[in-house]
Formats: sequence, C-alpha cells, structure tokens
Amino acid sequence: MKIVRCFAVSRSVRSLFQSFTFLLLFSVLNSPARAAKKIIFDTDPGTDDALALMLALNSPELDVRAITVVPGNVTAEMGLENALRMVSLANRCDIPVAAGARRPLFQKLITAEFWHGKNGLANVELPPSKCKVDARFGPDLIIQLVHASPHEITLVPVGPLTNIALAVEKDPSIVPLVKEVILMGGSITGGNVNASAEANIYNDPEAAQIVFQAGWPLTMVGLEVGDKAMLTPKYLDELSKAHGPINDFIASVLKYLMGLSMQFGEAGTPMYDPSAVAVAIDPTLVKTQNMHVDVETRGEFTRGETVGNRRGYIERNVLHGDRYVIEGADKVQPNAKVCVDVDADRFLQLFVARIRGK
Ligand code: BDR
Ligand code: CA
Repeated sequence: MKIVRCFAVSRSVRSLFQSFTFLLLFSVLNSPARAAKKIIFDTDPGTDDALALMLALNSPELDVRAITVVPGNVTAEMGLENALRMVSLANRCDIPVAAGARRPLFQKLITAEFWHGKNGLANVELPPSKCKVDARFGPDLIIQLVHASPHEITLVPVGPLTNIALAVEKDPSIVPLVKEVILMGGSITGGNVNASAEANIYNDPEAAQIVFQAGWPLTMVGLEVGDKAMLTPKYLDELSKAHGPINDFIASVLKYLMGLSMQFGEAGTPMYDPSAVAVAIDPTLVKTQNMHVDVETRGEFTRGETVGNRRGYIERNVLHGDRYVIEGADKVQPNAKVCVDVDADRFLQLFVARIRGK
C-alpha cells in the first residue's frame, strides 16, 4: 500500500518536474531577449538617417516592420526616393516604405541640404530602387501595424515628429498599444539649430508636444548622446576595412560628414540618428533620468526647446489679493526617460561592427 502511494507520489513529482521543464524551455525560447524587437522607423533621410537605417537593418535584435518618411532634412518626395533606394541597396524590398506628411503641422518646412548634401545623402548617387512604394499613408500604416501587433511595436522616429503626431491624433487608441517610443530629438543642454532647439523638434514643435504628452513610454535620445558619440577617423578606418554595397555607401556618407565636421572644428561627426537605433538595440548603452518634458511652442528665442523638469516638482502659486504666494511644491509626473549620458566607445564599436556585417 505504502509502496503504491510512494510510486504515485513520485509519478506526480515527475510530471510536475516535466511540466516545469517544459514551461522553462517555452519561456526561454520565447523570451524577449531572443525575439527581435519589432520597430517602425520614421525618418527624413538624411545622412545620419542613412547611418541609422543601415544599423537597424544589420542588427538581429531589431525587426524593421515599416519605414515611414517625413519631410525634414529634405522634401517628402526626395526623402521617399532616398528611403526606397536604401532599402533596395540592402535588398530589403520586403519592408514597406510609405510616404507620410508633406509638411509640418503648422509651420513651413525647413530643409537641410546645407548639412546633408544636395540629394540629402551626402551627394552619393545610389542606383535606382528595385523596391516599390507602399500605397498606404505613413500615419495610417503606423496605426494599422500597431493594432496588428498590440504591445509589440516600438516606434523609432529620427526626424520631425509630424507622422507620429498625425497617427496619435487620428487614432489615440494606439497610445496604450505601442510598446515604447525611442526618439532622436531634443536636448536639455542647448540646441543645434540655435541656442535652445534641436532640429527635429524645431522643425515641428506642435507635433513634438503631442508626442511627448501622449502618455506612452518614451525615451528621448537627444543631443546629449549624439554630441558625445563622435565618430572619428579611427572608427571610419576600421569600418572601411570591409567592403560591400552597404559598407561602401556608409563609408562615403561618413567621409562627407567628417569633412563637414572638420570645417566646423570638430574631431568627428556626431552620431545623432544612429543613437536612437542603438538604444533600441541595447538600452544599457545610455544612462537615463526620468523627467517631465514639455516642448516650448511660443518662446521668441526658445520655440522648439525641450524643457525637462529636472527637479520633479513645480511651485504652487496662489493668488492672495494683489500678489501670488508660494503655498507649496507639487510633484510632476515624468513623461520621458531622458538620456543624459552614453558609453560612446561601446556604441561606436557596435555601429562599426554592425555596418561591417558582424
Ligand atoms: C537631427 O536633425 C537632422 O538633421 C538629423 O537627421 C537628426 O535627425 C539632429 O538634430
Ligand atoms: Ca533625421
């Protein structure tokens, strides 16, 4: 009798152990560490957009589900042509490339051929694209893909935030369904367009304010990262040791950017857009601080500035007769993880290795 019971117990222990092992195996195989992160890359290509796109396409941690084009560095038409030529160069016609907005929400478009070359791609002529444009409107494609994979899509915008804002305005129900937003833009330590504003935010401040206030997990990869991660000739030499269509294209773009930077007395070129992709690949590359960020839309000298509240509170001023009296300090809820530091060398090495196909 005892023996039978003992046998029964050991059988149930064994089956418990088997189901535990199965569950363990199942969760390891399906763990997020193994599954590639699904991203939508929203871009205004753009030299550093090109670097960022190729980094994303060459990184197994990322699964680029769509590329949506926004005007910024170049016009919407030129940006679309550039995106199509680049996916073609990378042999990735399977990725939908869609046109988006044609201008910022409320202001005139400002293009940046001065920095990015006449064609936006460092004047490097890529062969005509074998890939066809996706007929959907960029913001609609974003909405569709987010609903198709709820809680799985990371948005990686590296241009003005017009397309993302249009998607949120059209369908706010996407906000809780987006896994996270990792954007290149903004700065809490001064701008690159002028003393206060960073270019992507400056080019559509109203759109940026919508995106920052939407209520989704958002990481701001701003100038604090790109300016610290300077790609110098030493990294370019390393990258140029290997050859191939992507490698050679990126090396030419970098040579152009390096020449430009040196004219401005810099030792290398700042890695702006690739930094957002790098954070999507490996968030441990950066140090972040939770903050509430607002975008200034009215200031005479500060339109487009990302104003980060570093103390986490605001004073409560209450009107008493003809004056205000500070009655306390109220906490503000953070709406962004702001990147405040980066392991620049590790990031640059990752970039070089991935472009070299390692
Ligand atoms: C940002 O502005 C654009 O010119 C670059 O592509 C990058 O997205 C940097 O401020
Ligand atoms: Ca860009």
